[in-house]
Amino acid sequence: MGVSSLSISSNLSSPYANPAIPIMARSLWVVLSLFLLLVVGCAGRPLHHHKKPLQTSRPYNIAHRGSNGEFPEETVGAYMRAIEEGADFIESDILASKDGVLICFHDLTLDATTDVADHKEFANRRRTYEVQQKNMTGWFTVDFTLEELKSLRVKQRFNFRDQQYNWKYSIITFEEFISIALDAPRTVGIYPEIKNPVFINQHVKWADGKKFEDRFVETLKNNGYKGSYLSKEWKKQPVFIQSFAPTSLIHISNFTDLPKILLIDDVTIPTQDTNQSYSEVTSDKYLGFIKNFVVGIGPWKDTIVPVKNNYLDEPTDLVAKSHAHELQVHPYTYRNENRYLHFNFHGDPHAEYDYWINKIRVDGLFTDFTGTLHEYQECRSRRWKDESAVSIVERIAELISSYRNDHN
Ligand SMILES: *[C@@H]1O[C@H](CO)[C@@H](O)[C@H](O)[C@H]1NC(C)=O
Ligand SMILES: *[C@@H]1O[C@H](CO)[C@@H](O)[C@H](O)[C@H]1NC(C)=O
Ligand SMILES: *[C@@H]1O[C@H](CO)[C@@H](O)[C@H](O)[C@H]1NC(C)=O
Repeated sequence: MGVSSLSISSNLSSPYANPAIPIMARSLWVVLSLFLLLVVGCAGRPLHHHKKPLQTSRPYNIAHRGSNGEFPEETVGAYMRAIEEGADFIESDILASKDGVLICFHDLTLDATTDVADHKEFANRRRTYEVQQKNMTGWFTVDFTLEELKSLRVKQRFNFRDQQYNWKYSIITFEEFISIALDAPRTVGIYPEIKNPVFINQHVKWADGKKFEDRFVETLKNNGYKGSYLSKEWKKQPVFIQSFAPTSLIHISNFTDLPKILLIDDVTIPTQDTNQSYSEVTSDKYLGFIKNFVVGIGPWKDTIVPVKNNYLDEPTDLVAKSHAHELQVHPYTYRNENRYLHFNFHGDPHAEYDYWINKIRVDGLFTDFTGTLHEYQECRSRRWKDESAVSIVERIAELISSYRNDHN
C-alpha cells in the first residue's frame, strides 16, 4: 500500500519538470494528483511516517476495555475515545466465536452487555456449562458464529454510567481492534488478554488442531507485531499480552518474545489452569520462576493495598518483591466514581493516581477513565517544570542574599 501510493505521486509530479506542458494543464495535474492521492490515501491505512512515539518515561495509561467509563466497553466508540484522550495502550479481552474467529468481549456470556435476550431467533441458544468448577447459564459467545454475533448490539454495563450510546455499536473482532490502534494518528499500543483459555479450548476447535493461544499469537504476528520489550520493532507496534493463566503464557513463550504480563486475582481465588492459589503465585519463589516468561504482573489493586472499611490498609510487599525481580506492576482497575474511590482520596481521582504512582510506584495503570489519568499525568509534569523554574529563582535569590550577608 505504502509503495504504490508513493510511486503514483512521483509519476504525477513529473509534469512539473516538463516546461512544454502549459500552465493550465499543469495546475490540472496538481488538482488531479491531489485527488488521486486522497483516493489512494483513503483506500488503505494512512501513512504515518513520523507518528509520535509511545511515551516510555512515565507509568503507562492503559485504557481498560477502551474508555468504558464513557462508552460501552470494547466497542469502536470506547477505543476511539481512549485514543483521543491520550491512552498509551488500548486494552481488550479476547474470546472466540463458534466458527473460531477471535473477538473482543469480556464475559463468556452475552447476557450482561448485549441485546441477545431480545433476539427470538436465539431463544433456544441458552446453555449451562461448567466454568472453573461452577455451573454458569446464559448465551455463550462460543455458541454463536461471527455473523450472528455481529447482528447483536452492545450496551453500557453499569446503569450509573452514560446510556446514550446503547445499541449503537456491535461486537468487534481482534483484527478490527488491531486496525483501530494501527490507524491512530500517533503510536498507540495494544494490551489484549488471552481470556478464559481453558474454556475456549474446550468449546472451540480449529481445523488445523491449533489452540486458542496459537491463533492469538498468529493474529499478532500477521499484523506485524514483533520484538521483545522496548526493542525497535516493539516500539513501532507496542503490545503486552496478558493472561490469568500461567500455562498459556509459558506455552506462547516458545514461539514469541513479545512481552507478557501475568494477571493476578484476589489471592483466595485459584488459577483456572494450574489450580494454584494466587497467594502462591505472588510468592517470591514463584515470581522468581515466572520472570523467565513475563515482563510484569497485573494484579488486582487490593492485592497490593488491601482495603478495610473503605480505607486503605497497609500495603503488602508485592510491588517491592516484583521490582526486586525486575518485574513491572500494572494494577487494575482505576475508576472515577465516588463509589470506587476510598475515603483516603476524598472523592478526588487525581489523589488516587498520585498515591499509586508516587507512593506505591506502579509502572502502569488499567483505568476506565483514560482522560482523567492523562490529565493528571500532564498536569503533574507541567507542575514539575514550574517547580524547577521556581527553585532556580529561589536558589539565585539565596545566592544573592548570602553574598549580601557575607559582605554586610
Ligand atoms: C453442573 O450441573 C450438572 C448437571 O446438572 C451436574 O452434573 C454438575 O455436577 C454440576 N457441576 C457443578 C460444578 O456444580
Ligand atoms: C516448547 O518447545 C519445545 C521444543 O519444541 C517442546 O519440547 C516444549 O514442550 C514446548 N513447551 C511448551 C510449554 O509448549
Ligand atoms: C484444586 O485445589 C484444591 C485445593 O488445593 C483442591 O481441593 C481441588 O480438588 C483442586 N481441584 C482440581 C480440579 O484439581
